[in-house]
Amino acid sequence: MTVMGASDPWAGAAGSPPTPLEPPSVADQPFLDAMARLAGGVVVLTTRDVVGRDCGVTVTACSAVSLDPPLVLVSVRRSGFVHDALSVSEGWALTMLAADQGDLARYASRHRAPGDRDDFSRWPHRRGSRTGALIFADGVAAVECVPYDSLDAGDHTIVVGRVVAAAAEPASQPPLVYVDRGYTTVPRSSG
Ligand SMILES: Cc1cc2nc3c(=O)[nH]c(=O)nc-3n(C[C@H](O)[C@H](O)[C@H](O)COP(=O)(O)O)c2cc1C
Repeated sequence: MTVMGASDPWAGAAGSPPTPLEPPSVADQPFLDAMARLAGGVVVLTTRDVVGRDCGVTVTACSAVSLDPPLVLVSVRRSGFVHDALSVSEGWALTMLAADQGDLARYASRHRAPGDRDDFSRWPHRRGSRTGALIFADGVAAVECVPYDSLDAGDHTIVVGRVVAAAAEPASQPPLVYVDRGYTTVPRSSG
């Protein structure tokens, strides 16, 4: 049971009904510093814009969500380069990068000004058979998705995709990992 009192940030003034207040917030820097310690696999999300041009962005906010149906999510910054393309896309792909693909991760996370375009031609790739989105060669795994749902989440949109194709590369390199604001990898699991 919650005891309402002066120390309760949700409490209303004495004698009045509780008023919904903004929850206590945290300064940006402690939040960023804490989340920087969370290691994440590095993924390049690719799709095509309304006129069919390839575009992509590096993400670590990516997770499996459900097995039945098979769902994954990515959190994409609303003002980012691919957001608008993704919001109208009929399909997109995620390539989970390998330890030696830091150059691709850096390219897909570079700042792009309005009018800039992506050119992924220097990285070997194929087109996903279900979505036509680029899938990079030599990643540790890839999935193709069609839109399932989306949720406004602050300055990001959480995009949920239904997985329509998936492939892992069991004999490939270890994954590329981002932690403490830098790229690294993890030792191969011994099983
Ligand atoms: C390791 C790493 C992980 C990132 N993860 C995300 C993410 O999960 N979602 C997102 O929207 N942007 C993410 N970003 C930022 C974008 O990749 C990109 O840097 C940013 O959108 C700047 O590009 P823009 O100016 O074209 O938007 C990440 C960047 C890096 C380097």
